[in-house]
Amino acid sequence: MANLTYIGHSAFFIENSTCGILIDPFISQNPLAKFDMNNKKITDIIVTHGHGDHLGDAVPISKSTGAVISAIFELANWCAAHGANSNPVQMGGLLNYNWGKLRFVPAFHSNSTPDGKYAGMPTGVILEINGKKIYHCGDTCLSSEMKVIGEVYKPDIMLVPIGSHFTMDIDDAVIAAEWTGVKTVIPMHYNTFPPIQTDPQMFKTKLKDKGVECIVLAPGEKISI
Ligand code: NI
Ligand code: MN
Repeated sequence: MANLTYIGHSAFFIENSTCGILIDPFISQNPLAKFDMNNKKITDIIVTHGHGDHLGDAVPISKSTGAVISAIFELANWCAAHGANSNPVQMGGLLNYNWGKLRFVPAFHSNSTPDGKYAGMPTGVILEINGKKIYHCGDTCLSSEMKVIGEVYKPDIMLVPIGSHFTMDIDDAVIAAEWTGVKTVIPMHYNTFPPIQTDPQMFKTKLKDKGVECIVLAPGEKISI
């Protein structure tokens, strides 16, 4: 059994008895985020791309905890140059960790470091942990890649951006959920800033019509997966 905590925006903490994985830890600069960055259970950090609302506090948390940041090659090397422990990866490979497996997959977006340097391709990730496959889309538009992800990798849970403007909106996220064939969807990347205001309950209603479960989490809320 693993637990998943929604920190806020696109940040999640997934933990079991042996690991604590932070994804896109945008915490100190997000007044809506709820998470203790000194949490002793942090063992791993995954970052989908270098934008500030995703890279967030990854470097200082890596420095203080020793946790390794897994990210696309250029971004991981930038993190290492700023004193973090990092694991540079590319999309496609199945990466083995002591908690399970991780695969980086495409996202259609842009990607740069906080100082404006090229950060490689933006990504999503699929984590396999405690028998569950969790697909965190990162920032992306609707993409036919999601059909491939559904057909080949068959994720169980999808963490999907719905805020529009920088990512998919609700209607495209409903299509994304159908294409990936997931049973459970958790919305993210909405209501943090004015341009991405939306109604997650409307998303939940639209998914219910498609027979897909939607769990709307408040920042700090934890569920078992
Ligand atoms: Ni972004
Ligand atoms: Mn973003």
